[in-house]
Amino acid sequence: SNSKLNVDDRLLGICQLLEANVPHYNWVGFYFKNGDKNELKLGPYVGEPTDHTIIPFGKGICGQVAVSNQNFVVPDVSAQDNYIACSITVKAEIVIPIFVNGENIGQIDIDSNTPDPFSSEDERFLEFVCENVAQIL
Ligand code: SME
Repeated sequence: SNSKLNVDDRLLGICQLLEANVPHYNWVGFYFKNGDKNELKLGPYVGEPTDHTIIPFGKGICGQVAVSNQNFVVPDVSAQDNYIACSITVKAEIVIPIFVNGENIGQIDIDSNTPDPFSSEDERFLEFVCENVAQIL
């Protein structure tokens, strides 16, 4: 529908703004719960294309956030055993869940090519972004 297209355009615009303005944000995208399936589906993103357009709940950093409902900050992806590599250039990752009416419906996922770049300031900022995203879904 037109309104869904508009949402995706707006989400893509958020990805573009974040990637362009924060030097340590190198891949920025949204994953959303895929209907009633126990999996995430890739939404709008900027950065290198990824093969991981579907991620089962529990798998990788993203899949773990789908079940934990908690922020996940990964300072060093090489230290994670449950991690899905999208690019060999990625050193760190942050995933923040998006809640609508208290339900975890998706997340913002950011990869960084800089080691250990994410602070609590990134977490608070991205929680704010996700709260605003929840308002437009
Ligand atoms: N690294 C993620 C997979 C998604 S890519 O970063 C785009 C993970 O482990 O879930």
